[in-house]
Amino acid sequence: MTGHFDTIIRGGTVVTAGDSVRCDVGIRDGKVAALGIDLGTADRVIDAAGKLVMPGGIDSHVHISQPSGEGIVMADDFESATRSAAFGGTTTVMPFVMQEKGVPLRSTVEAYHKLAAGECHVDTSFHLIVSEPSEAVLGQELPALVEDGYTSFKIFMTYEGLALNDREILEVLDTARGCGALVMVHCESYDAIRYMTEKLEREGRTAPKYHATSRPKLVEREATHRAIAHAELVDVPIMIVHVSNREAMEQIRWAQQKGLNILAETCPQYLVLTEADLDGLGMEGAKYVCSPPPRDRDSQDACWEGLRTGVFGVFSSDHCPFRYEDEKGKQNPKGRTSFRWVPNGMPGVGARLAILFSEGVMKGRLTPEQFVALTATNHARTYGLYPRKGTIAVGSDADIAIWDPERKLVLSHDHLRDGSDYTPYEGLDITGWPILTMVRGRTVVEDGRLVGEKGHGTYLPRDRSPYAVQAKAEA
Ligand code: URP
Ligand code: ZN
Ligand code: ZN
Repeated sequence: MTGHFDTIIRGGTVVTAGDSVRCDVGIRDGKVAALGIDLGTADRVIDAAGKLVMPGGIDSHVHISQPSGEGIVMADDFESATRSAAFGGTTTVMPFVMQEKGVPLRSTVEAYHKLAAGECHVDTSFHLIVSEPSEAVLGQELPALVEDGYTSFKIFMTYEGLALNDREILEVLDTARGCGALVMVHCESYDAIRYMTEKLEREGRTAPKYHATSRPKLVEREATHRAIAHAELVDVPIMIVHVSNREAMEQIRWAQQKGLNILAETCPQYLVLTEADLDGLGMEGAKYVCSPPPRDRDSQDACWEGLRTGVFGVFSSDHCPFRYEDEKGKQNPKGRTSFRWVPNGMPGVGARLAILFSEGVMKGRLTPEQFVALTATNHARTYGLYPRKGTIAVGSDADIAIWDPERKLVLSHDHLRDGSDYTPYEGLDITGWPILTMVRGRTVVEDGRLVGEKGHGTYLPRDRSPYAVQAKAEA
């Protein structure tokens, strides 16, 4: 198709999960309308010569404005988190709606919609967190919400007040199988962590760095295996989130080789940070407290191996930001008494793509096509947004990030424009940076400036995951 377009992106290399092609992109009414050369005229022509034109990132694991315990407040609201996403080349984020015990899930979902309405720079779509799998929740609330496009939910095998026991996990999986939802599982063993935590506290080992000691690799490996076994018993796919190390990765690979539908995710912190980074930091180690914790070099190698070989289909940030110099954040008074009370999580929504591009593509560990699959296409496919999102194809939303593969910078918090007061990736050498981010045809960030307005980001109800639909059909 030729003619007149709202925008033509000219002269770049268009990268999708399938291939890389030198061609122009014609955009009309917020959608990709044509791919080719000599497309015609446009209100705006963007010169992308020497640049990579890639689908905007989809970050399917972010926490925004989530209640995080008494006196603790997340560093990002919907405005600042989605702003940071846009600066980092991400055009859709998928935050969690945390079920509050005794409160109908539907009203909590509505409360999150109120928080997001008119605030977002990029598109959003919610997962649910199930903390109280009562009969009403499993029998009525979840099936109705899945029907309305909330087609995935997360459950936890750890954390006070969130951990489900094995019977509860089986019931949630059974419900998901019945209604065609995809369950995301946080695999760390609650009792083992409690045992370790109390032991460490008795020994006076309470500094933030002991957070990692309290939840060693085997605690994640055991829970990963148990979650896989539960999924096999119920015969339902699951997504194992934020995998940090070789032992857990090998459990997943074993399950996948056995033919089980086990999906998995890893995150930037497991590629570029280690437990040893906290040595000698004292309270400042709190900046790096997240669960599972960063591990060691071999774990990093295993995560790269899992990304390269397809064990991990998605690469997300697990953005969960708390300010460091803040009593409502990492420095809350209880957190200063023991690692147990340091809020878990780190910012990452803005840095995720640059880290994978620089460390992965530019260092030859991944192809540009793998980068696109891991950061956009597979998220859209897995969570029911494809082909509207996650690719550059005629008819898809014009969610596009133009990357300068030669742009070099030393990563600093100033680049990321989030609500935190630090980045755990400060000082990382980066090659490759998104110079323009476009959401549904509208430029949101260009040359390091916010040019869009909050409120452009819209909410996306989702189809069922194709993996979950398959399980439902067989039920
Ligand atoms: O430490 C982390 N990962 N915080 C976020 C919550 C979660 O478990 O994903
Ligand atoms: Zn988690
Ligand atoms: Zn998370």
